[in-house]
Amino acid sequence: MEEHTRRFNRSHWASHFNANRFEKVGESVQNELFQYLESAWSREFDRVLPQGTPEERLAQWQSELERPQDSADTGLVRHDLIKRMVDRSNKLHDPRYAGHQVAVPFPELAWLQAATSLLNNGMAIDEMGPASSPMEEAAMRSIAQFMGLGPESNGVLCHGGTLANLTALLAARQRRYPGNAWRDGTSKPCALLVSDQAHYCVARAAQVMGWGEGGIFKVATNERHQMDGKALLESYEEAKNWGFEVLAIVGSACTTSTGSFDDLEMMADFAEQHGMWFHVDGAHGAAQIFSKTHSMVLKGMERADSIAMDFHKMLGVPALCTGLFYRNGQDGYAAFSHEANYLYESQEEEWWNFSKRTFECTKRMLSAAVYGIWENHGPNLWESLVDRLIENAQSFAQIVDNRPGWELFNHPNSNIVCFRSMDFDNDALRRNMIDAGPYYLVKTVFGDQTWLRCTFQNPLTQEEDLNGLLEGLEGIGREL
Ligand SMILES: Cc1ncc(COP(=O)(O)O)c(C=O)c1O
Repeated sequence: MEEHTRRFNRSHWASHFNANRFEKVGESVQNELFQYLESAWSREFDRVLPQGTPEERLAQWQSELERPQDSADTGLVRHDLIKRMVDRSNKLHDPRYAGHQVAVPFPELAWLQAATSLLNNGMAIDEMGPASSPMEEAAMRSIAQFMGLGPESNGVLCHGGTLANLTALLAARQRRYPGNAWRDGTSKPCALLVSDQAHYCVARAAQVMGWGEGGIFKVATNERHQMDGKALLESYEEAKNWGFEVLAIVGSACTTSTGSFDDLEMMADFAEQHGMWFHVDGAHGAAQIFSKTHSMVLKGMERADSIAMDFHKMLGVPALCTGLFYRNGQDGYAAFSHEANYLYESQEEEWWNFSKRTFECTKRMLSAAVYGIWENHGPNLWESLVDRLIENAQSFAQIVDNRPGWELFNHPNSNIVCFRSMDFDNDALRRNMIDAGPYYLVKTVFGDQTWLRCTFQNPLTQEEDLNGLLEGLEGIGREL
């Protein structure tokens, strides 16, 4: 290598791996984010969801990518990138945000995320994450106990509810076909029972495992979107008659579109009676276990073999961070019984080598936020957050119910509210409201009707925001 190239490289790397520069960039990012929070909290943004079609937004980012490079800007990324990202992103911290189910993260956790990004101790095996592995094991054991899963219970963290549901179903398959399923497949076609309102990722998991569409028996639901007990037995018998091995029943706690909770007690009885695995997809609503007021809807969940619970939905943790809990912690090792000799010295069940229990090999230091909150607050912080979010949903539902011209899907047991105008086109109402700003809400379709849908994720949302949202929709309706 030429001497000048060597010198360039040294100074180049030294400038990017430089503590002063790190501090300076940190200050400017901090200022940007501080301003974002101030604007969000004082409701200064014109719109929670910025305007622009996907194509328009793509064109903007593409044209910026094609700009000549700025040789004066020596930063790793352009100096204004964070500002552009903030300006063009959904403003979750604005109290008028009532859109998707993703958490409005506790701002302090951004620093914890920054720390874990810098440490970057990806934790496939213990030696990769000597702090984060025992933090995860300690927090998961303790939270599993709190959830009432019993002395043998345990859990792992993974990147999202979709992956957690798949992992749980792999463990279910392995229980029925111990030792063989990974190597030989299964001797009979497998199937699972799940409500027709379940999140699509449950069906996707069955299809990933090669069970095909035929392997998913979608059980009919009642008018409140809960699995119907009579239809459950019929679906089970139908599956058996077709020659399927029914491995598992999956409860929704709650459903994504309307926040409805299946009768988990009834499903636990059914699973016990028919000797099948009982999994609860609690990606959204299992978090209510932390609330004394709102955990009744989860009765029976403590009898599940496995539960998926997203910390990044109702619990204020940045995405992605999902707990997959097992009543018998040993089941977690069954899900992936592959050999990876280059990683593991032994085929034993070693809690400290997390990739034995997760789909992921390298995994982020997911335990930091969960451990940190659990250590400092136990269930109390999450209890008050869950209570606050559901209180907002129930207040909004009450406002809707009291106003003529509106229909409420049901009185919410969670922080999701579905409602519709009986006078105006609901699609047009939503579209126009988003265009006009500042509010943001989503929609869902069932039957042949469009329903407006709010998920109250922001604990700072106030009565005035709830009234403003409905009044805004009414104003738009009058102009349509
Ligand atoms: C009930 C339910 N299950 C699973 C998922 C998927 O979870 P994730 O987005 O964490 O993969 C969702 C997401 O909205 C959900 O509502």
